[in-house]
Amino acid sequence: MAPSAAASSTLLVLLALLLSPAVAAAAAPQSRHRLGASLQVASLNASGPPTTFFEVDRPIRPPRGSAGPCSTLLLSATFGATYGRPPVTASYAPPACLGAGGTLALAVLEWAADCRGRQFDRIFGVWLSGAELLRSCTAEPRPNGILWSVSRDVTRYAALLVEPGEVAVYLGNLIDKTYTGVYHANLTLHLYFHAEPQQQQQSDLIVPISRSLPLNDGQWFAIQNSTDVQSKKLAIPSNTYRAVLEVFVSFHSDDEFWYTNPPNDYIQANNLSNVPGNGAFREVVVRVDGEVVGAVWPFTVIYTGGVNPLLWRPITGIGSFNLPTYDIDITPFLGKLLDGKEHDFGFGVTNALDVWYIDANLHLWLDHKSEKTTGSLLSYDASGLDLNVNSDFTGLDGQFVTSASRHVSATGWVKSSFGEVTTTFYQRFSYENSNVFRKNGTVQIVNQTIDAKSGIFAKDASAVLLSEEFHEVFPLYLYTGTSDQAGDEYSLDSLVKFGINEKKTSGGKLGFLYSSLRNAQSAQGTMRVKKNLVVGGLGKTHQVYKYVGTDGCYFRDVSSKNYTVLFDRSDDSCSKGAYRGASAKLNDQPARRKLLANKL
Ligand SMILES: *[C@@H]1O[C@H](CO)[C@@H](O)[C@H](O)[C@H]1NC(C)=O
Ligand SMILES: *[C@@H]1O[C@H](CO)[C@@H](O)[C@H](O)[C@H]1NC(C)=O
Ligand SMILES: *[C@@H]1O[C@H](CO)[C@@H](O)[C@H](O)[C@H]1NC(C)=O
Ligand SMILES: *[C@@H]1O[C@H](CO)[C@@H](O)[C@H](O)[C@H]1NC(C)=O
Ligand SMILES: *[C@@H]1O[C@H](CO)[C@@H](O)[C@H](O)[C@H]1NC(C)=O
Ligand SMILES: *[C@@H]1O[C@H](CO)[C@@H](O)[C@H](O)[C@H]1NC(C)=O
Ligand SMILES: *[C@@H]1O[C@H](CO)[C@@H](O)[C@H](O)[C@H]1NC(C)=O
Repeated sequence: MAPSAAASSTLLVLLALLLSPAVAAAAAPQSRHRLGASLQVASLNASGPPTTFFEVDRPIRPPRGSAGPCSTLLLSATFGATYGRPPVTASYAPPACLGAGGTLALAVLEWAADCRGRQFDRIFGVWLSGAELLRSCTAEPRPNGILWSVSRDVTRYAALLVEPGEVAVYLGNLIDKTYTGVYHANLTLHLYFHAEPQQQQQSDLIVPISRSLPLNDGQWFAIQNSTDVQSKKLAIPSNTYRAVLEVFVSFHSDDEFWYTNPPNDYIQANNLSNVPGNGAFREVVVRVDGEVVGAVWPFTVIYTGGVNPLLWRPITGIGSFNLPTYDIDITPFLGKLLDGKEHDFGFGVTNALDVWYIDANLHLWLDHKSEKTTGSLLSYDASGLDLNVNSDFTGLDGQFVTSASRHVSATGWVKSSFGEVTTTFYQRFSYENSNVFRKNGTVQIVNQTIDAKSGIFAKDASAVLLSEEFHEVFPLYLYTGTSDQAGDEYSLDSLVKFGINEKKTSGGKLGFLYSSLRNAQSAQGTMRVKKNLVVGGLGKTHQVYKYVGTDGCYFRDVSSKNYTVLFDRSDDSCSKGAYRGASAKLNDQPARRKLLANKL
């Protein structure tokens, strides 16, 4: 966005501000209006110790009794002028410990990085042989330097880890006199092994649905508008009996804050040609041979420069260092895909503006006892998107209420050496967004809830093999108020409350599993912005993370203000305080049976 356009309206300033960090984490940074992410604090001691940033998450614990870690440095790299250049690559050889006969218990990919100076938040991806393993956003540096690390459980990629391949990391960074931060990163793989041989649950083959190297970009597809569909044709082995698509999604530039975008009619009525529009609803739609097999209604990740960069120091926004991925089970459709021919896997984004980075990994389970499985789709219902927008505005003030819903379900059977298994997969989404502009467009209040339910149900002639339900709710409240505009300077007050609430239950041959997560952040800040640089301000954030599951518990209550952690309490026992009720329930056999019975 051109600075001259931004100066013509306070609304534009507000929207430009919301947009700008977008650019920071995205494409074509040179061509757009940008918000300086780092503060120029006069008293800052550049020779002081570096600050450690972190995302609150459940620690990844190796299974009891497992051995390890066996750690291997996959890649060590420097990201300076890397924007629009090929990804950094390193050849991958499976670590010797992987071939030593043990069963893999846990694989963890760790990204550890540092940076010093001033720099935007940059999106990056890590791929192994074309399959994405991590989508992440960098932390924004300070003159005294920062450190951070992020770990992701990559056990599900076991099939890839045992094969030689190539690691690729794309982190598009730009360096100039103002934005001096160069990122240094180490990528390490940590492996743990079971003492006794165990049956593996992971897929046998992972087929990447991404762009192939060489590229001057990440291996993700870049989706630029609502009609843009990016796809890849591929054939799957004819002895596949289960297939799950794992989708990676991030949104940038004009759609970094898609949930705050007003409809086009408001933009046209107010001649706001540089404000992104198309309303506040987006969804990723996944198609196989043109038919909708599922959708992703994504969590509203706020990157480290988003809204007010001071909010995310040192506690970063939920999901910003480790973006969530989304699974779509396409087993019911296998009947159509087992013909040995190529099929088209495509991604589109409803109402998209430039730009969405999307790719996927297709996890396939193969029948080692037969060369050919067969199958057929029994029923399929993908009612279209139901989207309603209620607009009411006068000049720059107004209210837009958007609601949406979608339902996809499919049932199909697959016959393999395991017998004839009938699988149903469904998704049920609902969405509500209220987007209010007040005080001549200088105040914006967004209140949104995304509710996503999905389930998998598999049975053969004699028994239920799997019954799994997953319910996610993503609440978001965002207040931004612009004031004291004078020339190229203005102030912004902001309040963000958002989170992830999820519940998962699973029953069947593998036993009963349950988990519940409530992860909420509340962040409040002020800042003074001059010529796209934050020249003063303050941010504070409070986060409560509560996980209760059959595999353990984790609780953390942490708060930070102005780069300093005010308090940090954590607990990983299931027996204390907040957990007493829930863990009692988990140990209560009748309650467990009832939960299962409800689902079956
Ligand atoms: C509202 O904002 C517009 C665009 O910045 C400006 O032209 C107009 O004077 C403002 N109106 C009031 C009442 O402040
Ligand atoms: C800056 O920090 C270093 C190390 O903490 C300290 O030795 C030095 O005195 C500080 N300088 C100022 C001006 O505060
Ligand atoms: C990367 O590893 C090297 C060698 O162990 C170490 O010197 C460096 O500090 C590491 N960098 C980061 C960012 O962890
Ligand atoms: C949408 O994006 C595609 C891919 O970049 C492009 O070919 C097409 O012209 C765009 N359509 C519109 C309406 O901008
Ligand atoms: C928008 O532009 C048109 C044409 O230049 C003009 O007639 C109209 O008054 C403008 N509307 C506003 C709200 O500025
Ligand atoms: C947001 O909307 C929900 C549902 O309409 C409502 O319950 C909640 O109070 C609202 N939140 C705020 C902060 O206004
Ligand atoms: C924020 O912390 C810095 C030191 O890191 C200090 O100089 C500054 O005064 C603090 N600001 C506020 C408003 O507390």
